[in-house]
Order: sequence, then structure tokens, then C-alpha cells
Amino acid sequence: MRVSPVARGSRFGAASSLCRFLAAVAACLAAIPGQAPGAARERVLPVNLRGPQDNRVCFACHGEPEGAFPRADGSHPPARVDAPAYAASAHGSRACTECHDDVTTIPHGGVAPVRCGRCHPDARAPVAVKPGEARPTEDAHARARRLGKENAPDCADCHGTHDIAGPAKQTSRVHRSEVPATCGRCHLEEYRQYQNSVHGAAVAAGKKDAAVCTDCHGAHNALLPVRNPDSRASPMHVPDTCSRCHESALLVKRYGLPSARYATFRDSYHGIVLKYGDISAANCASCHGSHDILPSADAKSRVNRAHLAATCGECHPGASENFARGTVHLMPTADRDAPIYWISLAYRIFVSGLIAQFVLLVALDLWAIRRERRRGGHSA
Ligand code: HEC
Ligand code: HEC
Ligand code: HEC
Ligand code: HEC
Ligand code: HEC
Ligand code: HEC
Ligand code: HEC
Ligand code: HEC
Ligand code: HEC
Repeated sequence: MRVSPVARGSRFGAASSLCRFLAAVAACLAAIPGQAPGAARERVLPVNLRGPQDNRVCFACHGEPEGAFPRADGSHPPARVDAPAYAASAHGSRACTECHDDVTTIPHGGVAPVRCGRCHPDARAPVAVKPGEARPTEDAHARARRLGKENAPDCADCHGTHDIAGPAKQTSRVHRSEVPATCGRCHLEEYRQYQNSVHGAAVAAGKKDAAVCTDCHGAHNALLPVRNPDSRASPMHVPDTCSRCHESALLVKRYGLPSARYATFRDSYHGIVLKYGDISAANCASCHGSHDILPSADAKSRVNRAHLAATCGECHPGASENFARGTVHLMPTADRDAPIYWISLAYRIFVSGLIAQFVLLVALDLWAIRRERRRGGHSA
């Protein structure tokens, strides 16, 4: 007997086809407990469950509270699938069997893991080689899996299974506000530090612009091991990664942040040395930290005055407080670094004056030439 719940070309209307469907499932269920081993009594599902309307076949058993329908050996079938949550998910308009494409009979068991990549081939290309580059870059989690780390996430660990939603949805596990908790399930130490950081506190307070894990690490095939030179969190790339936000005029204004962090860093000794590829020089994270970033006014901040000698001392052994006091983001103002401020101001006035004189000279010259030409034209 074929279980044929969704009466094809039903002449009896929806209600009666549902009745026939339920009867068929009931017959099928009745067969399960006393089931003899062997394939003879398996029911083959209609091959094409066409869409959500046909998912009733599956919900008849999997929609029930857990354990409503015991297996042949009396143990209980897997967790119930929450029908409303499923309907609201990104896949709510899909047949269960589009993902569980090997569920073809009732009863069934030993269902293979879902291969999301069948339909989302771009979500995680495990090895992507940039044009003109021989070195393959491999995402951190794919790499971990290849190295046999079973606890590295697959799609469902980050996205869920039957309640998957796109990143734009507030309730999604991959919505900005949820990303830290999603990653933090496994990266406990980073998560703990992050929650106490300026960024973590800001995100928890609903400031959606503050950095979450994926801003600094990327997602999918952009999420590289930090030692990979292409990682956003690698020393060469950290200044760009932080500056995407800290050089943004909009964010600087919105959060009252000090500006020109990148420009002042770029022109510093560290910035110049780093630019030439010496990753032993300080980048933003060497001084500020990465997961434990706090405002310098916070006593726990690595760049608080009390800790500066130690922070610089990590690379400048024996750095004195005096050494550490040198302004890092050198942006002189009249009341701070006064001599530098006045000298650079005088210099700027001097240079501006020179340029103005030069422009005036050229303009006068052009004017003279034009007048000469006109006069010449008249006489000819
Ligand atoms: C007659 C009840 C019944 C119906 C109808 C049914 N299932 Fe199941 N399903 C079960 C039972 C019982 C198990 C547990 C099998 C086992 O572990 O031996 C199960 C297991 C599963 C599993 C998990 C297997 C695992 O290894 O954890 C998936 C996935 C599944 N079913 C999907 C479906 C889909 C999709 C449909 C609809 C096409 C469906 N089921 C219809 C009873 C049913
Ligand atoms: C977007 C793909 C997708 C769709 C659509 C889908 N599932 Fe699943 N389902 C999964 C994943 C992923 C798992 C976790 C196990 C795995 O990786 O295969 C899972 C697991 C299950 C399990 C095992 C228990 C559990 O929760 O781990 C059951 C039962 C199940 N699904 C039933 C259903 C039913 C019924 C439907 C339709 C209402 C459905 N699934 C639709 C992806 C899907
Ligand atoms: C380590 C966690 C993680 C894993 C593993 C993961 N994703 Fe994602 N995924 C995310 C995050 C975070 C986003 C949000 C977009 C972003 O930040 O770029 C996302 C976004 C998406 C989107 C929305 C479209 C887009 O690209 O913006 C799809 C589709 C998707 N993922 C599918 C998958 C599939 C399929 C897999 C498995 C091959 C997978 N993801 C593995 C974290 C993950
Ligand atoms: C049978 C094909 C198919 C499979 C298998 C599948 N998906 Fe999808 N998925 C889709 C389609 C189609 C959409 C777009 C739905 C829409 O736009 O309404 C989608 C949407 C999504 C979205 C939301 C994208 C966005 O930007 O809003 C995410 C996230 C996602 N899928 C993740 C997964 C994960 C994780 C798995 C495996 C557990 C998976 N998908 C398996 C077809 C599939
Ligand atoms: C403001 C940027 C930033 C944010 C936000 C951020 N990270 Fe990081 N992360 C970094 C940098 C930079 C490194 C490399 C230097 C280091 O180890 O401190 C790093 C390193 C890591 C490492 C590797 C640690 C090791 O010892 O090898 C992991 C894992 C990690 N981060 C996970 C996370 C998780 C999970 C989150 C979110 C809870 C997160 N990060 C948020 C910048 C960030
Ligand atoms: C299911 C657990 C799990 C989840 C969820 C998860 N990770 Fe991971 N992650 C791992 C494992 C395991 C490794 C490999 C660690 C190793 O190699 O020692 C890893 C590696 C990494 C690395 C590379 C560390 C290095 O040494 O370079 C980074 C960065 C990272 N994860 C960030 C994230 C971010 C960001 C998210 C969320 C979007 C996330 N992870 C979600 C388990 C997880
Ligand atoms: C996605 C955007 C984003 C990224 C990336 C980012 N930040 Fe931030 N950061 C913010 C926002 C927004 C605030 C303000 C939070 C608030 O006011 O509550 C902030 C605050 C700070 C503060 C405290 C400033 C103050 O005056 O209180 C420091 C220090 C800081 N970030 C350093 C960094 C460093 C270093 C990096 C790179 C490793 C980085 N940030 C990456 C958005 C970002
Ligand atoms: C050599 C160490 C060092 C490096 C490298 C460094 N900073 Fe700073 N940063 C400091 C110190 C010390 C302060 C506090 C005193 C000051 O403003 O000069 C500070 C202040 C800040 C502030 C103001 C908020 C506060 O905590 O007072 C932000 C934002 C900031 N830095 C971001 C960055 C970014 C982004 C980079 C990389 C482009 C970077 N820093 C590189 C040491 C450093
Ligand atoms: C991650 C390591 C690291 C950290 C942290 C660090 N520096 Fe440096 N710094 C370097 C390197 C590398 C050089 C280049 C040394 C060379 O080429 O001789 C350098 C050079 C300098 C120079 C110019 C050359 C010199 O030795 O006089 C000054 C000044 C300086 N650092 C000050 C600081 C201050 C102040 C701090 C703390 C706020 C600090 N550095 C934190 C690595 C670091």
C-alpha cells in the first residue's frame, strides 16, 4: 500500500483529502509498533511532496509532542518540529523533503545529515583561491573540521534547523544583536571578555553599530584563522578593520567618538613600520586589546594611564611611565601638546601664505598674457 496522503487531483475537496490522509497515516502508525524487521512493510511516500501543504504527512508524527509515537523498540522519536516556527522560517514555504531528501519511506530511520550547500553553494566555499594567488585561503571552521575537530560548527550550529531566518530578522541567530551569543556558545572565553568590553556593552544596550564578532572576523569564507594574513583580524588588516567604523564620520558623530584614529596611527612610527610589513609593530589591537577593549578612562582599560607602561612594555621591555606617556594618537591641540600645536599652526599658515602668493602670481601672469594677446589682436 502506498501512503498517498495528498490525494492527487482530489475530487473530494480539501477536508476529505485530509481525512483520507489522516486515515492513511493512522494505518501507517498502527503498523509501526508491531513492525517486523524487513522492508516488506515499509510504505513508500509519494515521491514528490510538493510544498508546505504536503508537510502534513510529516507533521502527523513530528508535529506531535515529543514521544507521542514510539519507535518499534518503544523508544521515542526525535524532537517535535514546531509548526508555527517552521512556517515563519525562511524555509516555511518548502517541503520538509527538500532538505530531508532521503526520507522516502514511512517508517524511516537513519536519515542522513542535511546538505544545505545543495541550495546555498556560495555560503561556504571551503577553499577559495584569489586570482593570481597560489595560496589557498580556507575558512577557520572548515579548516578545523578538516583537521578532525568535530566541535567546529556546521551550518545548523550557527543558523538553527527549523527556525532559520535571514540576518535581517531581529529573531535570527545571525542577526547582529545575536551573533555574539551564537559564536559565544563555543568561544566561551572570547565571549566572556567581549561582553564586558565597550563594544559588547554597547550591543547589549541596543547600539547596533558597535562591533560584533563578524565585523572583526567576517562570516563564512571570510572567517579565516587569525594567523592567516588575509584575516580581518590579522595584524596587517586590524587598522582597516577598526577604521571601517572609527573613521566613519557618521559613527564618530553619532557616538561622540574621537576622530582621526586611523590617520594619526598611520602617521605614527608603528603605523609606518607596520605598513612596510613588520607585524611586530603595534597595531590597534596590540594596545587596545581585541575582545576586552575599553575606553581609556576606564580603570581596567589597557590604555588607561595606570596600565600604559605595562601595555607598551609587552614590546618595549622596561618601558617607563615616561616613555608610555608620549601621545599615541598625536592630534595636537592648544591645551595638549601646546608647542607642537603652535609650531604646526605657524607652519600651516606659512605654507598657506606661500601657496596663496604663488596662485596670485600665476593669475597675474595669465592676466598679463591675455591683455598682451588682445592688444596684439587689435593691432593685427
Ligand atoms: C508514522 C510517523 C512518521 C511520519 C509520518 C514521518 N516520520 Fe520521520 N520519524 C519517525 C520516527 C519514529 C523516527 C525515528 C526513526 C529512528 O530513529 O529509528 C523519525 C525520524 C525522522 C528524522 C530524524 C532521523 C534521525 O536520524 O534523527 C527525520 C529528519 C524525519 N523523521 C523526517 C521526516 C519527514 C521529512 C517526514 C515527512 C516526509 C517524516 N519524517 C514523516 C516517524 C515518522
Ligand atoms: C532547511 C532545511 C530543513 C528543512 C526544510 C526541514 N529540516 Fe528537519 N532538520 C534539518 C536539520 C539541519 C536537522 C538537524 C540534523 C541534520 O543536520 O540533518 C533537522 C532535523 C530534523 C529532525 C530530527 C530531530 C531534530 O530536530 O534534530 C526531524 C524529526 C526533522 N528534522 C523533521 C523535519 C520536518 C517534519 C520538516 C518539515 C516540517 C523538516 N524537518 C524540514 C533541516 C531541515
Ligand atoms: C560560524 C557561524 C556560521 C556558519 C557555520 C554558517 N553561517 Fe551562514 N551566516 C552566518 C552569519 C553571521 C550570517 C550573517 C551575514 C554576515 O554576517 O555576513 C550568515 C548568513 C547566511 C545566509 C544569508 C545570506 C548571506 O550570505 O548574507 C545564508 C543563506 C547562510 N548564511 C547559509 C549558510 C550555510 C548554507 C552554511 C553552511 C554551509 C552556513 N551559512 C554556515 C554565520 C554562519
Ligand atoms: C532545497 C533548497 C534549500 C536547502 C536544502 C536549504 N535552503 Fe536555505 N533557503 C532556500 C531558499 C529558496 C531560500 C530563500 C527563501 C526566501 O527568500 O524566502 C532560503 C533561505 C535561507 C536563509 C535566509 C536568507 C536570507 O538572506 O534571508 C538562510 C539563512 C538559509 N536559507 C540557510 C539554510 C541552511 C542553514 C540550510 C541547511 C540547514 C539551508 N538553508 C538549506 C533553499 C534551501
Ligand atoms: C573589535 C574586533 C573584534 C571583535 C568584536 C571580536 N574579535 Fe575575536 N579577535 C580579534 C583580533 C584582533 C584577534 C587576534 C588577536 C588576538 O588574539 O587578540 C581575535 C582573535 C580571536 C580568536 C582566536 C583566539 C586565539 O587565541 O587564537 C577567536 C576564536 C575569536 N577572536 C573569536 C571571537 C568571537 C567569538 C567574538 C565575538 C564574541 C569576537 N572574536 C569578537 C578582534 C575581534
Ligand atoms: C559549534 C561551535 C562553534 C561555533 C558556533 C563557532 N565556532 Fe569558531 N571555532 C570553533 C572551533 C572548534 C574552532 C577551531 C579551533 C581550533 O582550531 O583550535 C573555531 C575557530 C574559530 C576561529 C579561528 C581561531 C584561530 O585560532 O585562528 C575564529 C576567528 C572563530 N572560530 C570565530 C568564530 C565566530 C566569529 C563565530 C560566530 C560567527 C564562531 N566562531 C562560531 C567552534 C565554533
Ligand atoms: C562595527 C563598527 C566598529 C568596529 C569594527 C570597531 N568599533 Fe570600536 N566602537 C564602535 C562604536 C559604535 C563605539 C561606541 C560605543 C559606545 O559609545 O557605547 C566604539 C567604541 C570604541 C572605543 C571606546 C571609545 C570611547 O571614547 O569610549 C574604543 C577604544 C574602540 N571602540 C576601539 C576599537 C578598536 C581598537 C577596534 C578594532 C580592533 C574597533 N574599535 C572596532 C564601533 C566599532
Ligand atoms: C601604541 C598604542 C596604540 C595604538 C597602536 C593605537 N592606539 Fe588608540 N589609543 C591609545 C592610547 C594610549 C589612547 C588614549 C590616549 C590618547 O587618546 O592618545 C588611545 C585612544 C584611542 C581611542 C579613544 C578612546 C579612548 O579610549 O580614549 C580610540 C577610539 C582609539 N584609540 C582607537 C584606535 C584605533 C582604531 C587604532 C588603530 C588604527 C589605534 N587606536 C591604535 C593607544 C594606541
Ligand atoms: C606589539 C608590540 C608593540 C607595542 C604594544 C608597542 N610598540 Fe612601540 N614599537 C614596536 C616596534 C616593533 C617598533 C619598531 C622598533 C624598531 O624598528 O626599532 C616600535 C617603535 C616605537 C617607537 C619609535 C622607536 C623607538 O623605539 O623609540 C616609539 C616611540 C614607540 N614604539 C612607542 C610605543 C608606546 C608609547 C607604546 C605604548 C603606548 C608602544 N610603543 C607599544 C612595537 C610595539
